[in-house]
Amino acid sequence: MLDCIMPLRSAGMRIDRQREIVRTLLELVDADTTQLADAPLVVEVDDYTSPAMLAAETDVWFRDRPVLVCLSGDVAEVGDYCASDSAGIPLLVVRAADGSVRGFVNICRHRGSPLVPQGRGHVARTFHCGFHGWVYDLDGEVVGRPHSHGGFDTLGAAQSTLVRVPTREAHGLVFMRPRGGDAIDVDALLCGMGEELDEFGFGSYHRFAAWDSEWAANWKLLVDTFLETYHVPALHADTVARHFLAEPSAFAPFGPNLRFHSLQKSLLTLRDRPESEWTLLPHGTVEYVVAPNAILSYSVDHLAVYRFLPRAVDRTRVECVVYTSDPPDEADAPHFERTLALHQRVSGDQDFTQQEAIHAALASGAVGEVVFGRNEPAAIHFHRALHELLGSEA
Ligand code: FES
Ligand SMILES: [Fe+2]
Repeated sequence: MLDCIMPLRSAGMRIDRQREIVRTLLELVDADTTQLADAPLVVEVDDYTSPAMLAAETDVWFRDRPVLVCLSGDVAEVGDYCASDSAGIPLLVVRAADGSVRGFVNICRHRGSPLVPQGRGHVARTFHCGFHGWVYDLDGEVVGRPHSHGGFDTLGAAQSTLVRVPTREAHGLVFMRPRGGDAIDVDALLCGMGEELDEFGFGSYHRFAAWDSEWAANWKLLVDTFLETYHVPALHADTVARHFLAEPSAFAPFGPNLRFHSLQKSLLTLRDRPESEWTLLPHGTVEYVVAPNAILSYSVDHLAVYRFLPRAVDRTRVECVVYTSDPPDEADAPHFERTLALHQRVSGDQDFTQQEAIHAALASGAVGEVVFGRNEPAAIHFHRALHELLGSEA
């Protein structure tokens, strides 16, 4: 009855949605099973090791299709900028004077210098190229060419503005379409997942700290580790396996995107409690895969955003950024430092290190395929969805 008069919300996710997920999970526990896909999925090793496969992915997913470049909180104030790249295309997003985000190719129109180095920063009103000092405003227009003695006066508009890139901010996320083209429809991209993301209010989250690393493994192998908890008891025996369940797991598809959960053993205590007391968020991690290469991982008191950036078929840069709902004060900082260290220890030292060994083994060519079981349905969805976007079959 209390639900009738209380708003059906709690920090993070609507309480009725949490209860629905808990109900699904506890039914699986009672049936001594986990969510199962229709059939196992055999994946060709070439998916992970073929340069031709990466070339196709680069073309379709990392250049033509919009990619998540940062969160709104990374460019919160006018003049805040974030420079990154997608499959080699250097990108610059900045919060412009009118409060909206603008996106450009991060290449000076004079002689091609990156306008700003990769990373985040802030400018008051203008960017200054480090090579000869051309000056650009926050709309990407050239507003100064110091010491040039009129040397560029006869040039047309093309050299007077940065190349614009379709850029759109929604649900606390910033997307860019690296190769240019149509305006971005974020809701069409997220296929319904935006409503859930809004419940968390990620748009007002604050960046706490980042961890950048590079791994000798195909980018999809690294993503795979987030898409099943089947490996938890074996691979994470000396870390999170003490607290996390291997099963049940359940996922929800949103087009090529998906929601997945890694659940703590404390979830099982809810079986002895009335539904009116059920909550999901204190009992695990909720992961949203934003296809193709970003994962928003929400855990109790923080959000970790992973982006997997292929450098070569066997080399991947991973950006992991920890965000908090409030700016952490001095007293909170050590806690969130430990949170980031745990991500490094579990994802880095265990998951990604494991996947480097797998990549090396698969690259030998000694086996032709690997298989995801029916008990790994989120991973199956991910691989099928990516093949669909490529117009091929997994
Ligand atoms: S390359 Fe930027 S000012 Fe010359
Ligand atoms: Fe793992």
